[in-house]
Amino acid sequence: MTLDTQKIRADFPILSTKVNGKPLVYFDNGATTQKPLQVIHRITKYYEEENSNVHRGVHHLSQVATDKYENARTYIAGFINAQSEKEIIFTRGTTESINLMATVLESWVFANEEVLVTAMEHHSNLVPWQQLCKRQKAKLKIIPVSQQGEIDLDLFKEMLSPKVKLLALTHISNVLGTINPVKEMIEVAHNYGIPVLVDGAQAIAHTKIDVQDLNCEFYTFSAHKAYGPMGIGVLFGKETWLKRLPPYQFGGEMIDQVGYEDSTFNTLPYKYEAGTPNVAGVLGMEAALRYIENQGIDNIKKHEDHLLEYATSLLEEIDGIRIVGTAKEKTAVLSFVINGIHPYDIGTILDQMGIAIRTGNHCAQPLVESFGLPGTIRASFGLYNTIEEVDVFFAALLRAIEMLR
Ligand code: ALA
Repeated sequence: MTLDTQKIRADFPILSTKVNGKPLVYFDNGATTQKPLQVIHRITKYYEEENSNVHRGVHHLSQVATDKYENARTYIAGFINAQSEKEIIFTRGTTESINLMATVLESWVFANEEVLVTAMEHHSNLVPWQQLCKRQKAKLKIIPVSQQGEIDLDLFKEMLSPKVKLLALTHISNVLGTINPVKEMIEVAHNYGIPVLVDGAQAIAHTKIDVQDLNCEFYTFSAHKAYGPMGIGVLFGKETWLKRLPPYQFGGEMIDQVGYEDSTFNTLPYKYEAGTPNVAGVLGMEAALRYIENQGIDNIKKHEDHLLEYATSLLEEIDGIRIVGTAKEKTAVLSFVINGIHPYDIGTILDQMGIAIRTGNHCAQPLVESFGLPGTIRASFGLYNTIEEVDVFFAALLRAIEMLR
């Protein structure tokens, strides 16, 4: 089935706004996606009709809010095929999910042991592990990435040993668009008893996620990169792991019995959800994932692959262009540089023409520097983007290059 982009676009009011007098072309979906009316209305409905604190009151509204909140958890568990809703922890997003893990894994990673990450990690899946290793006097080891933007699986395998206590890697690179062979890497890591955390921030809106099939110990994502609200996301963790790891933050809801001297803690998932949660955010996230489900993730991927293929074929014709990230398995992200022109200048001119793209190191400074670049120009696609928009982008890019050369 193909996507009805006309109909989809009508669900996203922001797409019909003008920027600098020009129709908006929004190609910055890697940074954040726009929100459909289904999500906006869900959040409004919560505040208009259902707002109350959850798990706390005996009154009607508190019961309604609690039911909706927990039903959303069950739906989201199903969306990524978790075994149980106890494995779904609501966080502020991918960054908080990873920081949570890098804190509680202080009880797992010790001096002279190793944590592996790839060279293509976003800062949020690099710095928390770097700092954990510093605290624990452990070593952070970087799995190399080729100039095509692919992990060298032979080198990866050589890095595995009983010293390695964790593998943390991105499912899809936010700079290169590479889809990493996570399932295969998890299987190999498991031969050494190494648990694996997958950063799914760029994957959740673009490809099917099945945590049981991947068999990862931990999977993280943010709602806002999947047509949902900002400030809400998920940490999936296998129940056996979350059960035995210590709590992260302390306060209301995550406790069982509290005394002045000591306290005991709640069962999963509440053990990891201290304080009043972002209920509206959770309901908005559920609405966003339902939106994706209704469109069909395979249809979305096919559509975005088509946009990527078309845009790549146009850009390849440009004199002096270098596409950054040419992995065989790639989706939705197109990074490039143009000889002699600073990415920022292109970004500024495209903005004048109503086109939103991102320039810079995309929160992956070591990766971009490893390509010998100060930054790239990045177009990243979503389900509402069209071939016509790619044509507008391409024509604008040619004009910008002409102006800057
Ligand atoms: N991680 C987001 C991006 O790649 C912000 O743009």
